[in-house]
Amino acid sequence: MFERSKKGERAVIVQPAWVGEGDAAAALDEFAELARSAGATVVGTLNARIEKPNPRFFIGTGKAEELKTLKTVNEADLILVNHALSPVQERNLEKFCECRVVGRTGLILDIFAQRARSHEGKLQVELAQLKHMSTRLVRGWTHLERQRGGAIGLRGPGETQLEIDRRLLADKVKVLEQRLEKVNVQREQARRGRLRNAVPLVSLVGYTNAGKSTLFNRITGAGVYAADQLFATLDPTLRRIEGLPCGPFVLADTVGFIRDLPHDLIAAFKSTLAETRDADLLLHVIDVSDPERDQRVADVEAVLAEIGAQDVPQVVVFNKLDRVEGAAPRLEWIDGGRVARVWVSAAEGIGIDLLGQAIADSLGRERVQTRLDLSTAQGRLRSRLFAAGVVSGETSDEDGWHLDIDAPMSRLQPLFGLPDGDGSFLKSALGDAS
Ligand code: GTP
Repeated sequence: MFERSKKGERAVIVQPAWVGEGDAAAALDEFAELARSAGATVVGTLNARIEKPNPRFFIGTGKAEELKTLKTVNEADLILVNHALSPVQERNLEKFCECRVVGRTGLILDIFAQRARSHEGKLQVELAQLKHMSTRLVRGWTHLERQRGGAIGLRGPGETQLEIDRRLLADKVKVLEQRLEKVNVQREQARRGRLRNAVPLVSLVGYTNAGKSTLFNRITGAGVYAADQLFATLDPTLRRIEGLPCGPFVLADTVGFIRDLPHDLIAAFKSTLAETRDADLLLHVIDVSDPERDQRVADVEAVLAEIGAQDVPQVVVFNKLDRVEGAAPRLEWIDGGRVARVWVSAAEGIGIDLLGQAIADSLGRERVQTRLDLSTAQGRLRSRLFAAGVVSGETSDEDGWHLDIDAPMSRLQPLFGLPDGDGSFLKSALGDAS
């Protein structure tokens, strides 16, 4: 149903340079990498200074002329613009340059579509694509509107072709949403199972290409696909890890983050990203050799904030240390000893033991192990604690129940209605409860 970038499609990329803003070279590099990731061959680039977007083409008319020439000279099949284009601008540029034009959102959706591995991931991307497309129905479709106008009897009651197309799309969106709802129910069941067993969840996050899949493989030994392309990972892959002093935990490999992730996509991936928000610990993987490292970190933090995961404790993983001269594996405590930072090379398997130590330390610190004495009048609290899977043992006598609590702090906080991250509150609440 969707036009995918074909392998080896020749693309000209357009990078806007906003007047008053700094160097656009880094943004251009990132976008070119995305284009290659989608399978395109970049045959030309055009920097367009923009003061105010031109409503007709987004870029100025003179630049559009230049673009058309560039496209013709390089025999390009495709123009990629590193900005969100309005449907009208896209259509006008297409007509003017006689060539397919795709904006940043379309390109990212295309990459996600190519990389989706699980059934759920595929549904999520298709839904995002349909929604993106439904806003674009004006283009190329309007000419069909009157096609059946004169043919009496063929026309639906007041329905133009455009309306029919819109309705078909809306129907498809509905079907996809229903299917996703079903998958979400299954996911929720799995999540509850995890909660019941009080197994902490550790999620890998990071900018695309930082090395999450490689690290995931290192930690699990599971053969997850990793490639030198952006978005090798699209769907979270969950593995249970045993053998560390902190006890078992579930490790999740998540979608690669990217600057300006389209909103449709964030909405479609809500359930996937919720796994990040619900994690007990995030491993924030950073390519330490990337010159744009700080910017990437800020981009990831922005996405984390957008999905409400900014307060989940983090271990920072400086990956690819083999690319930094003289760097050695090490474990540091930053932010006053709150956050661990570990230098590793996932590809070469260096520093993974230190990472294990940091995970164990961070999870251990967040773990509450205590004895809770409940009176016979506190039966409701007792059932809630059992339902949440935070009780590891119990004895009872005439005074009531004596519960052994062993669980991550994050599992206990909601039970006692406490603000996130407030361990001292929890301890006193546990004291009050007894
Ligand atoms: P997305 O799925 O796009 O989010 O990427 P990712 O973060 O999962 O990255 P992935 O593991 O696919 O790694 C990207 C590239 O970096 C691959 O070519 C890896 O081989 C390479 N890579 C990963 N870790 C290291 C490392 O420690 N050193 C070096 N030199 N390369 C690495």
